This record gives sequence, structure tokens and C-alpha cells, in this order.
Amino acid sequence: MDWRTKLLNPSLKARQDYRSLAVPVYRGSTVLFHDQAVVTDDWRQAEYGYSYGLYGTPTTLELAARLAELEGASETFIVPGGQAAIALIYFAYCQAGSHALVPHSAYGPNKAMAEGIMRGLNIEVEAYAPLIGAGIDGLIRENTSLIWCESPGSVTMEVQDVPAIVQAAHARGVAVALDNTYAAGVMFDAFAHGVDVSMQALTKYVGGHSDLLLGSVSARDKAAYERLGPIYQQLGLAVSPDDCSLALRGLQTLAVRLEVLERNTLEIANWLVDHPLVAQVLHPALPSCPGHDTWARDFSGSTSVFSFIFKDTIAAGQVVEFINQLKIFKIGMSWGGVHSLAVVYPDLQRPNQDFGGRIVRLNIGLEKVEDLTIDLAQAMAKIS
Ligand SMILES: Cc1ncc(COP(=O)(O)O)c(C=O)c1O
Repeated sequence: MDWRTKLLNPSLKARQDYRSLAVPVYRGSTVLFHDQAVVTDDWRQAEYGYSYGLYGTPTTLELAARLAELEGASETFIVPGGQAAIALIYFAYCQAGSHALVPHSAYGPNKAMAEGIMRGLNIEVEAYAPLIGAGIDGLIRENTSLIWCESPGSVTMEVQDVPAIVQAAHARGVAVALDNTYAAGVMFDAFAHGVDVSMQALTKYVGGHSDLLLGSVSARDKAAYERLGPIYQQLGLAVSPDDCSLALRGLQTLAVRLEVLERNTLEIANWLVDHPLVAQVLHPALPSCPGHDTWARDFSGSTSVFSFIFKDTIAAGQVVEFINQLKIFKIGMSWGGVHSLAVVYPDLQRPNQDFGGRIVRLNIGLEKVEDLTIDLAQAMAKIS
């Protein structure tokens, strides 16, 4: 063989009997088949074998399998981010003429998709009050095909009565999807509470270090799996095996990170409860959070993100000043990593609720709690 051909057809191979604790990063778009008869293009690789890199390499499928086991799912799909997971669920469960329900406390881009792409496709997505519980029955129509839950809600942190919503939905043959990102897929057992399809932004706790974007969609049963799979294929939701490798590493330390994050966050939340400038702390484990009793009934713990509202003696401009004065807390969106973050929502509106630019969301990281409270105290002092 010419050396050019040898470059692509080496005859020597390294030993293949290497064993290690790390999951190898398998890259690849093209999958090789043994003979023409077995050539296929099927997204169901776990059952029928590998066919194309778009549906994942062994690194992706390993992550999917570990998440499915952890969440008690039938199967899990890995997608490029939490928002891609949301899109996959919308497209799998809604079609032209469908009606869907989404809590008005849902993640902003979920609602933007409802009002944007979904509306353009003649899918009506109606917002509902997150604490509606069994009352959701009154909103279900003949053409309702999907009910979203997100618990606790984004920024305003309302804990939803998911089992009551599931009961009402299933009585009318409607599927329930849950954004289970807050609970990292583990602090709330989506499938034990009846949910049909559960997603999380792996970007947050599973990644855990603010350096990757990934999402997961977990199916309760084969029916949900078969419904999601073709849409997953048609949307071409390919992910990088390198990112999956980071997520697999993140999973190994998820338990210790969550334990410390929960403890640190509760300490900060309780510190804020006693602060004279604070009107309300929206942390699910505190009675001041809407739906706290439901959290106590259904969750096995809390995580690192929560909000608080300044008293109305503080003007919106002072809240911005408070954020700018923080030294250890960084100003940033997203959450679930090891750094503490703060951000104000100047225009956050909920039906019948105007926060006047006084609602602040914190993500607590792994810093020493005393340093964080000193940081908050000095910023509070500057505006009081
Ligand atoms: C509750 C929730 N769901 C979904 C997402 C979207 O995740 P991603 O940023 O990975 O698209 C986010 C991101 O902030 C989120 O907070």
C-alpha cells in the first residue's frame, strides 16, 4: 500500500483490553457496518445497534442509560440543552390544532416558544396559575394534548401539586411533562408522581461547573419513548460526546455537590429571612414560599437556587445598585454550578403580581457561607 492509503488503513492496532473507571469519549459521525444487509438509519440504537452518530455514540448512550436508571425512566434522550429538551417535548406532544397548558411561572424561553413557534404552527398554549392543582381540570379541553409543569417555577419558585395535576390530566387522557431541572432529576421523583415525560437542563446540576450545555428528556414508558424518538431524529438534536463525557464526570460528584449546595443555600436563605430590608424569601423549604407544604410532601430535598424580594421601601434602582456592589457573588444567569450568582429581574411580571424590580434570584455555590453573608451584608449596607 502507498503511504497515503496506509494513513487511512493502518494495519497495526494498539491493545484493546484497556479497562479504566472513565467512560471513553467516542467521537464519530459515520458508523461502520459489517455488511450491506445490516445497513440501517434508525434512532433506536439501544435496541437495534449503532447506525449514525446523530443518534449518539456509546458515550452519549452511556450518559442516557445512567440518567434513565437514576430517574427511573424507561429511556432517556440526550439533547443539546434544556431548551432543546423543551422543544422536543412540544413537538412530540402537540400538532396543529392542539391545545397545551403551561404554568405562568415556567422558564421564560419555554413561554416564548409557546407564544412564538407554537402559535405560528396553530398550537394554542395557554398559561395557567402554577398553584392550580386539581383545578387544572377546568382548563382541559377536547383538544388538550399536553400539560407542562415546572416545579418550583422559575424565579418565583411556586411548588406545584404535580400529583393532582397528573390525576386530572390522566383522567382526560392528557400527557404531563415536567421541567425537573431544579430537582436535578433526583430530589423529585417525576415518574413515581405520575409524570409522562421529564426533562432537565443538564447544563445546571449534572454538568455542575458552568462549562457545558446539555439537556435530557426521559420517557416514562415505551409509548412516550416511541413518540419522542422520531421527533428527536427529525429535529437532528445531535450532541457532542465531549460534553457528554463532562456530564458523566459531573454525575459522579452530584451527590456531594447537592448536599453542600443544599446546606449552604438554606443558611443564606435563613440569613435573608432575618434581614430588615427583605420582605419575602422564596425558597421551597421555607414556609414563606408558595407551595412549601407540597414541597415538604413530595421532595426529598432542596437545591441551590432561590429568590428574595426587597421591601417596597427599596427602589428598583437601589436593587440594581445592590447587585453591582456584590464582590463574591458574580452577576449571571443560569445556575447549578459551583459559583454563587445574583441577578435582578427588573421587569418580571406575573398575572396580578408586579415585583417592581425588587425580586433578586441567587444561586449559591460552594464558597464558605460566612464569606457570602458578609458580601450580601456589605452590599445591603451600601443601599440602606
Ligand atoms: C428551569 C429551566 N429549564 C430549562 C432551561 C434551559 O436550559 P439550557 O440553558 O440548557 O437550554 C433553564 C436554563 O436556565 C432553566 O432554568
